[in-house]
Amino acid sequence: MPDTSCYRERRRRFLKRLADHEVAIIASAPTRIRNRDTEYPYRQDSDFQYLTGFAEPEALAVFAPGREDGEYVLFCREYDPETAVWTGRHAGLDGAVNQYGADQALPITELATRLPELLENRTAIHYPMGLNETLDRTILDALARVRKRARAGIEAPTRLIHIDQTLHEMRLIKTAEELAILRQAATLSIAAHKRAMQAARPGRYEYEMEAEFLHELGRHGIRSPAYPCIVAAGANACVLHYVENNAVLREGDLLLIDAGAEVDHYAADITRTFPVSGTFTEPQKILYELVLAAQQAAIRQVKPGNRWIDPHDAAVRVLTKGLLKLGLLQGKLPRSIKDQTYKAFYMHRTGHWLGMDVHDVGLYKRDGHWRLFEPGMVLTVEPGLYIAPDCETVDPCWRGIGIRIEDDVLVTRKGCEVLTEALPKSVEALESFLAERNHAA
Ligand code: GLY
Ligand code: MN
Ligand code: MN
Repeated sequence: MPDTSCYRERRRRFLKRLADHEVAIIASAPTRIRNRDTEYPYRQDSDFQYLTGFAEPEALAVFAPGREDGEYVLFCREYDPETAVWTGRHAGLDGAVNQYGADQALPITELATRLPELLENRTAIHYPMGLNETLDRTILDALARVRKRARAGIEAPTRLIHIDQTLHEMRLIKTAEELAILRQAATLSIAAHKRAMQAARPGRYEYEMEAEFLHELGRHGIRSPAYPCIVAAGANACVLHYVENNAVLREGDLLLIDAGAEVDHYAADITRTFPVSGTFTEPQKILYELVLAAQQAAIRQVKPGNRWIDPHDAAVRVLTKGLLKLGLLQGKLPRSIKDQTYKAFYMHRTGHWLGMDVHDVGLYKRDGHWRLFEPGMVLTVEPGLYIAPDCETVDPCWRGIGIRIEDDVLVTRKGCEVLTEALPKSVEALESFLAERNHAA
């Protein structure tokens, strides 16, 4: 029997966020075909999981505050013994009520016919329109049917509201039980990064490092990372979303690994960049320490009351100043920042919200203003520098160096806590960790 208390509490809070005559519709993730009749491993939709804890596909939750027959209606598959034999356990309608706490369970095959009555006399529908064409159609059809009953005195919803304002605001501030899982994801990912670091040697391949990372996850029952691993040696690190992971590691290369575990639907997202041979070359070290200084400056900005953009601005300032000093950029600091000339080498943002989705939900701006940090928010801080191998405007010694340093950071009451701090990061810490590796070999 799953522990359903945290989901019940979330539903209670979510229902309170809806006005009396509103309704919310949240659907499970669809299954997806990988090839012919074989499916990708199923991963529940994060919104649906957050509110229901119900791991099955072909399900849809309706939340209707004040409804007499129950405020939480779960449409799902009916129990079928043959399905149980072929594809395993499923809750059925009784299980949806008794195990998962639905007030009422209805067969998903009856969605089109039962949905109109759930929309009757509701003023607004909270629903993320545009993600699932088939479901969008079902909801619009149901709405049309309710409208046709106007002369019978039935009112139809007139507004469609995105769940950014309600559910996603809840997901943005992590509860204690969510933080406990995020910490587990961070701890496991740190162990997996260490394992990959320890295995790196000239002559081995990027995919071997990926295998080491995944092996450590698998040993702990985690069968999927939170996103495809990026394992990029040398100039491959200049491709931000490099996922081929098939090149050989060479003496003198840096290796960038951006990888994180997904534990119980919660992500870690960590990047480390380190020398394959165990020792940074001088140009690598100079750029690495610049990125690290930018990251530290950015992390210092993560505290309640500061704006979302403050860490990014701090990182840009440190990076641009450093690039000017090293001669990779020319000009004066204020102008270089204003003209964004640093974007030739630092083209992405300094982070994103982190949670059930690696790029988690939550608005970055509200009413035209960057939002302020609040305790319980979790974000990544991940500045980098990427000097393309064919960049002719810089001295050849810098070319083909790609560096990113990424940690997962929790906003606390007084400042912040770096959840992934335990993974070596300074030049000294990395070199000494890698030296132990060489001794063990
Ligand atoms: N791994 C994806 C990201 O860092 O945003
Ligand atoms: Mn990230
Ligand atoms: Mn990442």
